[in-house]
Amino acid sequence: MSKNVVILPGDGIGTEIVEQAVRVLDVVNETHKLGIETQTFAFGGASYDQSGEPLTEETLNACRAADAILLGAIGGPKYDKAPRDKRPERGLLRLRSELGLFSNLRPALLYPELADASSLKPELVGGLDLMILRELTGGIYFGEPRGIEERNGQRVGFNTMVYGEDEIRRIATSGFEIARQRNKRLCSVDKANVLEVSELWREVVIDVAKDYPDVELSHMYVDNAAMQLVREPKQFDVMVTSNLFGDILSDAAAMLTGSIGMLPSASLDINGKGMYEPVHGSAPDIAGTGKANPLATILSVSMMLRYTLNEAAAADQIDTAVATVISNGVRCADIAGTGQSGKETLVNTAQMGDAVVAAIQAS
Ligand code: IPM
Ligand code: MG
Repeated sequence: MSKNVVILPGDGIGTEIVEQAVRVLDVVNETHKLGIETQTFAFGGASYDQSGEPLTEETLNACRAADAILLGAIGGPKYDKAPRDKRPERGLLRLRSELGLFSNLRPALLYPELADASSLKPELVGGLDLMILRELTGGIYFGEPRGIEERNGQRVGFNTMVYGEDEIRRIATSGFEIARQRNKRLCSVDKANVLEVSELWREVVIDVAKDYPDVELSHMYVDNAAMQLVREPKQFDVMVTSNLFGDILSDAAAMLTGSIGMLPSASLDINGKGMYEPVHGSAPDIAGTGKANPLATILSVSMMLRYTLNEAAAADQIDTAVATVISNGVRCADIAGTGQSGKETLVNTAQMGDAVVAAIQAS
């Protein structure tokens, strides 16, 4: 039975890193006889340039029909002046929403060899392995009413942070399930001392916890969580939080590893179908220079094989190949100079792809 993967390279370095990730996918597809077929579509700014829409109906329908989606990155300064509803980000938000990708897994995992790349002391981050679970289709990103309008002679901008019980229950359940497969500790992050929406969030999370007596639940206000992430990040196992808080905290957590270019992510619907993408953005400043690190996207392919396509052996092979390449000192610019000087080889985007492909073929 063939499986259908939609590839959305996007903008900026998106096209460059996806090219390498697709090479890796092709190799495991062949060796493991996975029967994966890929189809590529323009998305984000690239799509806007072609058709005036960041997400066309054709692309949306292909994504609906796909078993999984691999996304590079979208956006860039070129699109800052596009009408608000035509910006690349709007395409991404619509895709998340239309596909019901409510559960966004953003792991922050530190490779031991890269501990020096972190802005924190190695002893604070050595062995860091935390998972941020971000609610992705609700909250202030999608809440109504929203807009900019004239009130009493001046313009006023407003958004609404809103969560229904079902939305909270659904993401909390994902959080407990993920914690159960890890170290069984879940920290729910909210702002319940100020926001009613958070008060309800906390109430529902506590209710869901009744079904997970084996998971230790804690609660933290988001300001404190931001502080604790940079103070003592290893206290966390899984953090579950709302769309906006998760957006912010996951960037902070990613930077703790010193190598945002290493981090994959998954956005899943209720059936486990997913869209996979690197945590980092389209980095227009380095697009076309060969400096982009494709490992986050390559690791996104691995997550896709593991979580949606149920091909754990192929996923393991990719993870092992990436770990080998890192321990052999192969480095893109973003992770170069991390305490292994003398043993490091600086490579460009395509050479990093070569190294991973070679490590897979040698395994
Ligand atoms: C992310 C990004 C997006 C978000 C942008 C590009 C719309 O920052 O995936 O974290 O805010 O969700
Ligand atoms: Mg973000």
